[in-house]
Amino acid sequence: MNFHIETYGCTANFGNSEEAKATLIEYGHQPSSLEDADIVIVNTCAVTAKTERKIKRRLQELDGDRLIVAGCIPASMPETIGQIGCLKRIGLLNKRSAKEIGGILKVPPDRKADLSAKTAQMSPVCRDVCAVVNISEGCNGGCTYCIVKKARGKLVSRRMDEVIDTVEKMVRSGAAEVQLAAQDTAAYGNDIDTSLAELLDRITEIQGDFKVRIGMMNPDTALSIQKELIHSLKSPKIYRFLHMPVQSGSDEILKSMGRRYCASDFLEIVKDFRSVHPDITLATDVITGFPGETEEDAKETLELIALLQPDKVNVTRFSKRPGTAAAKLYDMPDRIKKERSREMTRLWMEIAARRNERYVGEVLPVLVTERGRDSTMKARAKNYQGIVVKGNPNLGSFIDVLVTASNPFFLSGQLLPY
Ligand code: F3S
Repeated sequence: MNFHIETYGCTANFGNSEEAKATLIEYGHQPSSLEDADIVIVNTCAVTAKTERKIKRRLQELDGDRLIVAGCIPASMPETIGQIGCLKRIGLLNKRSAKEIGGILKVPPDRKADLSAKTAQMSPVCRDVCAVVNISEGCNGGCTYCIVKKARGKLVSRRMDEVIDTVEKMVRSGAAEVQLAAQDTAAYGNDIDTSLAELLDRITEIQGDFKVRIGMMNPDTALSIQKELIHSLKSPKIYRFLHMPVQSGSDEILKSMGRRYCASDFLEIVKDFRSVHPDITLATDVITGFPGETEEDAKETLELIALLQPDKVNVTRFSKRPGTAAAKLYDMPDRIKKERSREMTRLWMEIAARRNERYVGEVLPVLVTERGRDSTMKARAKNYQGIVVKGNPNLGSFIDVLVTASNPFFLSGQLLPY
């Protein structure tokens, strides 16, 4: 039977879809285009009201008896999709739920014969040069606005040997970039008496030419392993990249958000990382218009971002998520949130434009990770800076690129002749 998976949301959700895909293939089913699919699985995200609306519109379009709705929406707010016609609603997409789906789909008898032999070799296999490996599920944080905990529960880390085994297999089957994903990567191991730094040390011992991208981590959990992490980032196998959401520059708002740090802690952490890795790429997230955020609070966030000089800021307007503590608070008018979000976007783009200009004229060693538009390829520098390269270098190859231009989002460059 043919199946098609459509995924929304974070890298960890994409990791879940990859796991499910591998399991369904083990069961003898084949990934296909949407048109040819017997089953369409939509792996949803519930993080904001905007994303939720977009996904619901999509589900209505797909409405029908080949649709399976999975992921954070059915796991955290199943009542909101009760009217959408589908074959099945399941919670999070993972090996277990994929087995359940595999059981629903009937494998044609002529394919059953060679299944067991294939199964032994197939999982997990990298089908791309960039592979996502989920290292844990859930979170022990207490953010008052976040629905993820409702969807994914408390922190459950994968056993280290299992993660190492998966990464090894991915690298052996062609992954040049391994993305470690979790709701909070720095929390990895807190429940099984190990840590992200220990995991990274084991991963960098794996043979082969590959790069590791560490996914989003929270400042409070990063703080407890900061020294070790800064050390781990010295390995040439790990991108010098930090995705750490600050969310607000106002200590009052951070407290009301249930974040367990203050703005000055955040600045300190970044300062420490930069003192050893001055070229580290910093991506952060900001929520504008959180309930109770005053003009002064919004200004403090802008000031903090100006001080931090991040390379990227993901700006999200606050939206109520059902069942969360913040949903009970007064929600300010959308136009204020929009105005604050615009101002924040203007600021970070100015910063990023200026920061990216410094690369122009430099030669950077990069890893080619994706196909781009109009006969270009996309690549990543050692600090995960994105570069669009003219020409046709091989996917997964390590090359040198001369940076010829920049904008707030990426660099452009050309291949250097050997
Ligand atoms: Fe969205 Fe669930 Fe990830 S809510 S951001 S898909 S954990």
